[in-house]
Amino acid sequence: MITKCLFPVAGYGTRFLPATKAMPKEILPVVNKPLVQYGVEEAVEAGIHQFGFVTGRGKRAIEDHFDISYELEHQIQGTGKEDRLASISDLINNNTFAFTRQNQMKGLGHAILTGRNLVGDSAFAVILADDLCLPEPGEPGVLAQMVALYKQFRCSIVAIEEVPADETHKYGVIAGETMKDGLYRITDMVEKPAPEDAPSNLAIIGRYLLTPDIFDILARTEPGKNGEVQITDALLEQAKNGCVLAYQFKGRRFDCGSIDGFVEATNYVYENIYKAD
Ligand code: G1P
Repeated sequence: MITKCLFPVAGYGTRFLPATKAMPKEILPVVNKPLVQYGVEEAVEAGIHQFGFVTGRGKRAIEDHFDISYELEHQIQGTGKEDRLASISDLINNNTFAFTRQNQMKGLGHAILTGRNLVGDSAFAVILADDLCLPEPGEPGVLAQMVALYKQFRCSIVAIEEVPADETHKYGVIAGETMKDGLYRITDMVEKPAPEDAPSNLAIIGRYLLTPDIFDILARTEPGKNGEVQITDALLEQAKNGCVLAYQFKGRRFDCGSIDGFVEATNYVYENIYKAD
């Protein structure tokens, strides 16, 4: 089964400067919780308890977040504020967190390949923390939906959603044969196409389940769009030789890699999750 999840978190987060000058973008809080913690919680809900982070320089705060903090815990003991640490303490106590560094920025495919030692030889999940995915109330999260599909099909799966034509240049875009409502078998995929080159309006969002043969493919994948090793190109090879599925998930995605999406997510979480608690 899927027991591990990789978080590529080496990116600079330049859109959020100066906020991200000394702080990783993945630690920016959506209301009172860092973006990356939402992703970890989503994976835990999908039954995953081993986490690997592909980090870079300036990302130490992520390691610290998933570690105990003696001084803080000691200081707030008996003050009635202990429960504010409950969600993160729970994660720390019940999961393992491993870190490796990507010392050059050579693209998402390269970042995933850098995480190979943390993953080993079984199928694994990848979460891009920038994409905050929230389920419909009472429904399973996106990754849990994908894991259920993996149990049935045993091949790589990417999450997709429809995007307007003028946004295809921000995403990997797929073409596929419909297997059933919301599920496609991928026949083509293009990284960040102009609208006129996009094979559809179905864009990959930051959730992947990958079978481990992806590593050998990535190792021989030449740099593609923007001179970077693209996971999209490696997945296309996998799709041509076997099967890769694209799944139109149920839930909401916020593009927290952009200021607009981040503000939208903050308002949504404040109104629907934080205040409702
Ligand atoms: C990456 C992938 C792209 C995907 C996107 C989802 O792009 O390369 O295929 O659609 O994540 O967020 P990035 O956003 O890192 O440029």
